[in-house]
Amino acid sequence: MPKAEKLEVRSFATKLLHWLVALTIIAQLGLSLVMQSPGRNRPGDSLFEIHEKVGIAATILLISFWLWSIARSGETRLVAFFPWLSLSQFRLVATDARRIFAPLGKGRNERPFASAVHGLGLIIATSMALSGLLGYFVAPAKPLLEVHETIAPLMWAYLVGHVAISFIHELRGERIIGPMLSIFAKK
Ligand code: HEM
Ligand code: HEM
Repeated sequence: MPKAEKLEVRSFATKLLHWLVALTIIAQLGLSLVMQSPGRNRPGDSLFEIHEKVGIAATILLISFWLWSIARSGETRLVAFFPWLSLSQFRLVATDARRIFAPLGKGRNERPFASAVHGLGLIIATSMALSGLLGYFVAPAKPLLEVHETIAPLMWAYLVGHVAISFIHELRGERIIGPMLSIFAKK
């Protein structure tokens, strides 16, 4: 089994925002299973009202996460979350995808493939938040609620895949969940 290694240094703000985003999204997915959404002649129930409020909180947190990703330094760069427009960054992602569970190279602290997948998760979550918000509150944008429903399975898939891969890394001895949970430690 590979030796435990430090994958990335993440700041207090990154870790706090990550867990707040994760909590709101897990709550939204859970609520969607039990709430009664508004229909043609009936309003949504009280669980839908919670979905609405937690959804607004998720939108604010996701916008904060994107802004923080632009402003911070020494952590995952924005281009690593969104490598699709940069040929050189895309090559790094493709090379890294072939060695997903291999140890990090010396002197490197970013995993291009993992970061690209994290970026996709952020894009899916942001699309869920904005399609829900605009589709519900802006009458002409109502068709966006269909987008909201259509991408919901992608949000589930990301959550399940992301958590599963995190635990697989953990089982292989690469401690990534602990450092993410130690909000106050700079590691
Ligand atoms: C990241 C935040 C959000 C997530 C992860 C999320 C997730 C979901 C999911 C999984 C569903 C069920 C889709 C289905 O029928 O299969 C749903 C439905 C719905 N959500 Fe959200 N949601 C979020 C934000 C919002 C916001 C901000 C609003 C606006 C108030 C909203 C309004 C709705 C409505 C109206 C429905 C019912 C759609 C319909 O049945 O036509 N959501 N949401
Ligand atoms: C749908 C909700 C979630 C989203 C959108 C999400 C998104 C992200 C993002 C964007 C990063 C990279 C952070 C950065 O480098 O700035 C990340 C890292 C991480 N997330 Fe999540 N996350 C979610 C839920 C979770 C949950 C429930 C867990 C619990 C196991 C988790 C565990 C981790 C870990 C361990 C890392 C560090 C990965 C590494 O070092 O390569 N995440 N997540």
